[in-house]
Amino acid sequence: MSTSQVFMGFSEKIIMWYHHNKRDLPWRKTVDPYQIWLSEIILQQTRVNQGLNYFNKFIEKHPTVNSLAQSSEKDILNLWQGLGYYSRARNLHFTAKYISNELNGKFPTEYKDILNLKGVGEYTAAAISSFSYNQSYPVIDGNVYRVLSRIFGIENPIDSNEGKKIFKKLANELIDDKNPSTYNQAIMEFGALQCTPKKPNCESCPYRLECFAYTNDVIAELPKKEKKIKQRTRYFNYLVVIHDDSIYLNERTKKDIWKGLFDFPLLETKTRLVSFGVINKEFKNLELTLKQQSTEYKHILSHQKIYATFWFTTSNNSQKLKENFIKVSIKEINNYPVPKLIENYLNSIL
Ligand code: ADE
Repeated sequence: MSTSQVFMGFSEKIIMWYHHNKRDLPWRKTVDPYQIWLSEIILQQTRVNQGLNYFNKFIEKHPTVNSLAQSSEKDILNLWQGLGYYSRARNLHFTAKYISNELNGKFPTEYKDILNLKGVGEYTAAAISSFSYNQSYPVIDGNVYRVLSRIFGIENPIDSNEGKKIFKKLANELIDDKNPSTYNQAIMEFGALQCTPKKPNCESCPYRLECFAYTNDVIAELPKKEKKIKQRTRYFNYLVVIHDDSIYLNERTKKDIWKGLFDFPLLETKTRLVSFGVINKEFKNLELTLKQQSTEYKHILSHQKIYATFWFTTSNNSQKLKENFIKVSIKEINNYPVPKLIENYLNSIL
């Protein structure tokens, strides 16, 4: 570390670090609020490497907010497939239609109007305001909580109201009002590349001499959280019936996290099933014969652990199947948005 770095202020130091270490990313080369909004919504769901592919796919297909607005929800869910948390994709569509129809396709420019958009919270509003319009609103996401809690030694839980207030006040004090856009990109990039959750790169860190967590050897303990998330365990038994190169899908219409996606006929049970009997009884009018039982697939969501078994069968009553489910040619299966769990299974059999 050079002596000049020791005497620099927090924001100058992070911006200098950023200029030396930043990744070349497409949403950093534009001030188009549509592209920035889209990238931030995607990046709330995944890491940069995977997010890049999704971002490029979306922009290629929908270069403008009007184009996204004119798309169908099914097509948007299809582009979003694999990212999870599908309400984000539905909100994306809702907001695109709102901007296109009510605002003449013009993205709002005021922070409070941006914050009012469906699916846009304080973090995203600050990101759009600063990256597109260079307005001084600090972004506060998981990266920022980690960096600030460690360097400044803030032990208040990041999921408590008091903690949130303290971090917000500090973030407002630290932001570089002359360069809010660069500052915000810098602190997130620093959290993503240098001050990582596990094994941060403290040896080469410009804050090494002043960082509370490093100097007190409490890196692994910060940031602190109040609540442990309770996870529900669920057992899913999926019925996979393939007939004449077609497969039967179930459209999920209930208002839950997979609304609008497609899966298979499903029997949820309280415990793990070890034989086909219970399923055969439940779907008895389909006259099933079991051909193969899959290994168990584990699918972890924020509040649930799903254990899924796929029961590959033939049916002697395709009429009943057709009445209740959708017969889809296997060649066209990619037109149907499915949860990641189903995608993983399909990849293993097709
Ligand atoms: N994660 C969230 N927003 C980001 C951005 N703009 N650049 C890189 N990583 C991010």
